[in-house]
Amino acid sequence: MAPDSTALGDGAVRAAADLVAGLPPTAAVWCTGLRKRYGRHQAVDGVSFQVARGEVLGLLGPNGAGKTTVIKMLLGLVRPDAGEVMLLGRPASDPRARVRVGYLPELFRYQPWLTATEVLALHVRLAGVRVPAAEQRECLALVGLADHAADHAAGRAADRVGGFSKGMQQRLGLAVALVARPEFVVLDEPTSALDPLGRVDVRDLVLALRARGVAVLLNSHLIGEVERVCDRVVILDRGRVAAAGTLTELLGQREVRLELTAVPPAAQARLAAAGVVDIAGDWVTVALPADDDGTAVPDLVADLVALGVRVHAVEPGRISLEERLLGILRTGAEEPR
Ligand SMILES: Nc1ncnc2c1ncn2[C@@H]1O[C@H](COP(=O)(O)OP(=O)(O)OP(=O)(O)O)[C@@H](O)[C@H]1O
Ligand SMILES: [Mg+2]
Repeated sequence: MAPDSTALGDGAVRAAADLVAGLPPTAAVWCTGLRKRYGRHQAVDGVSFQVARGEVLGLLGPNGAGKTTVIKMLLGLVRPDAGEVMLLGRPASDPRARVRVGYLPELFRYQPWLTATEVLALHVRLAGVRVPAAEQRECLALVGLADHAADHAAGRAADRVGGFSKGMQQRLGLAVALVARPEFVVLDEPTSALDPLGRVDVRDLVLALRARGVAVLLNSHLIGEVERVCDRVVILDRGRVAAAGTLTELLGQREVRLELTAVPPAAQARLAAAGVVDIAGDWVTVALPADDDGTAVPDLVADLVALGVRVHAVEPGRISLEERLLGILRTGAEEPR
């Protein structure tokens, strides 16, 4: 079915122009005007966005917002009522696109009678790619299941998946998503069962994927996690995109608040050059440059101290993604639909 043309944004129009020109959008995934109704409930109501190659996109929103349904439509697992999807430059139903996607579903269960090594080998076979056994073992080690891989490799009886804890099953799910060398990885709540250490592992894993140019779509309720690893965020609310953009676009420019006393004129000039946006008593708020590589704050503090300023406190002055998300959802909740 053709997408509702009134729902098309600029990006969708550009992408549609690419299609007309015979050039399918080559983003990791591109979708426009996605709709899905279950009975009388409109679960997804005109969703359009894309994940660029090598980009990490966070998909956020309250329970029932439609995140998992959107993900399933992107991957060709649920048929949209309307809208279009291009997965790695091909229709989502094309096996050539799907084979290059790694997917950790929200709810999954692997064959309880298999070991972790056997589950991975099965998925490699299903993907139709050749991944050496050593690389499969590395993949298990990467998600913290090295002992299982070692038991299996040494011919010792390895635990069956049926005896795995929830967190271990989720780790195995991550390994399955990563093992066939995907170009695009979709993680639907990858850390819901993980302990704090496991969450850090997943964060590092996502960053390592991005460093290798692999695109990631991450759906998580742990907003701090999303804030740390995502380049861009799409917020879904009641089946619609409530907000989308880079963290800077959504949260505004990063600022730092400093509590200072004994500020000589030379230090005032240094602060002015850094970009003072507010002064309240001893507190000075400075906007950080958009391209700050992490040196702006320590450099500023070192300069101020060298100029004789007493620095009592330094704290981030930007609202968190969590505060922004709650603001967007509360505003949305007040609007009638
Ligand atoms: N197979 C289905 N049959 C009927 N209704 C469904 C089905 N799948 C999803 N829904 C409904 O669609 C809506 C969106 O569900 P979805 O699972 O996409 O939400 P979600 O944003 O992933 O939520 P959560 O954060 O709880 O995982 C919900 O109201 C849900 O009840
Ligand atoms: Mg979900």
